[in-house]
Amino acid sequence: MSFRKDFLWGGACAANQFEGAWDVDGKGVSVPDLCTNGTKDCPKSITTKVEPGRLYPSHEAIDFYHHYKEDIALFAEMGFKVFRTSINWTRIFPTGMEEKPNEAGLQFYENVFKECQKYGIEPLVTLSHYELPYGLVEAYNGWAGEEVIGHFERYCHVVFERYQHLVKYWLTFNEINGGTTQLGTTLSLGTVKGYSGPVNGIQITPQLRYTALHHQLVASAKVVAYAHALYPQFQLGDMNVFLTAYPLTCDPKDILATQQHNNVLNWFCSDVQIRGAYPSYMDRYFRENGIDLQITEEEKEILKKGTVDFYTCSYYMSTCITTHENSEEVAGNLAGGAKNPYLTASEWGWQIDPDGLRYTLNEIYERYQLPIMVVENGLGARDEKGADGRVHDSYRIDYLRKHIEAMREAAEDGVDLMGYTPWGCIDLVSASTGEMAKRYGFIYVNKFDDGTGDLSREKKDSFDWYQKVIRTNGEDLTD
Ligand code: BG6
Repeated sequence: MSFRKDFLWGGACAANQFEGAWDVDGKGVSVPDLCTNGTKDCPKSITTKVEPGRLYPSHEAIDFYHHYKEDIALFAEMGFKVFRTSINWTRIFPTGMEEKPNEAGLQFYENVFKECQKYGIEPLVTLSHYELPYGLVEAYNGWAGEEVIGHFERYCHVVFERYQHLVKYWLTFNEINGGTTQLGTTLSLGTVKGYSGPVNGIQITPQLRYTALHHQLVASAKVVAYAHALYPQFQLGDMNVFLTAYPLTCDPKDILATQQHNNVLNWFCSDVQIRGAYPSYMDRYFRENGIDLQITEEEKEILKKGTVDFYTCSYYMSTCITTHENSEEVAGNLAGGAKNPYLTASEWGWQIDPDGLRYTLNEIYERYQLPIMVVENGLGARDEKGADGRVHDSYRIDYLRKHIEAMREAAEDGVDLMGYTPWGCIDLVSASTGEMAKRYGFIYVNKFDDGTGDLSREKKDSFDWYQKVIRTNGEDLTD
C-alpha cells in the first residue's frame, strides 16, 4: 500500500508571506502589512499605520509578485502537481468594502493560475490566509463585526466567478481554529482596532473571541454553499492548524484535560465545518467561560448547508498537556504546551514528531471519513551555504522524509490521503516572527532579516530530493 496514483504532491505559500508588492497596482493595506519584524525571543509588533524607520517584512517579502514565472517554473521542475497559495483579499478589494473589484489584482492571480496551468499544476487556493483588509479592522474591529461576513462573500463571489475555469480546489480560512489562540487573535480574527504592540499582546474577552470566530464559521459555510450551488466542479475544504496534544502523564486528570483541550482547539471548528453544527461539548465550555453566542435558526441552517468536501490541516509539531506543576513549557505553532521528554525540537522550540502525524491522520479520518490533505508541514531552520555555495539541508530532508513515511503508514492504516503540500516550498517570511532566517524552502532566496538581499533564487539539496520523491510517488525517500 502506498500513495494514491493521483496523489497531489506540491508545496504551499501564502500571499502575504511571499508576494511583496504590498502597495502595487491598487492593492490595499492588510493586517500583515502593518506587522513589523521580530525574532523567536522578541515578538513582532502590529502598528496602526506604517511607521517610518520600521521594517515591515511583507512589503517586499520575496517579491513573488514579480518573480512568479521563474518560481512556478522551479515548482514545475520539481514535478509539483499542486501549488497551494492564497489570494490576498486587499488586491481585489483594497479596503474590503468597495463595491467593485480591482481589475489589476484580479489579473495578477489570473496570470499566476494560467502559469500553473501551463505546467499542469493544479492551484489550491486559500481565500483568507491571515490577510484581512485593515479597512475592515478600522470599520468593524475585524471579524468582531457581523458585516464582515457580507464583505467576505462579495470577495469570494468575485474570485469564484473569475477563476472558475482555472481553480478547482479552494480552502476558506487558513487555520481557522487558530482564532482560539492568543496569536490567532491578531493574525486570524483581526480584532485589533486601534491596537499597537506585540502581535501576541492583545487581550480580548472570550465572548468577543468566539463571536468573531462564529462570524468566520458562518462566512465559510455561506461561501461553501454558494460555490456548491453555482460551481459543481469545485471542491472546498476546511483548514485547521492541528496541534496534536498528548497527556503528559497517565493521571486520569491529565487524560481529561487533554481531551477538553483537544475538543476546543483541534476539533471544534472542523466539527462545525464538516458536521454542520456546533458540537455539544462546546455548550459547557461556553457556559463556563461566560460566552453567549445567540446563534439564530437561520445561522444553524447556513452551517448545516455549508459543509466542506475534504479536510485539510497544517501539522508541524506536538505538545503535552498536564494538570501537574513543574512541567517545562515548549513553543509551538500558534500555541505551545508541556515538553515531551521523548522528542527533540527545532531551533524555534517546535517539537518534531512524525509519529504524531500518523496518529493524527488516523484520528481525523476515523472521525470524519473524508479525504484528507496535509497542506502544511516542514522544518523552519537556519540555512547556511556550504563552501560550494549551496545549501546542504540534510536536516530538512530528514524531517520531511520521516513525515512522508508517517503519511505512508497512515495510508496503510486506511486513511484516504489526497495530497501533501509542504510549507514554504520557497523561502518566505515567517508568520509568527516575521523573520527570513526561519527558512522552510526547497528553494533558497537571497533575502535577509534586515531587508537586504538581491532576491535571487537557488536550489537547495532538498530540491533534488523532493523532485525524486514526487517522481517515484513517494516510493524512494533516500538521499
Ligand atoms: C502556519 C501558517 O501556522 O505555520 C503559516 O499557516 C506559517 O502562515 C506556518 O508560516 C509556519 O509558521 P512560522 O511561524 O514558522 O512561519
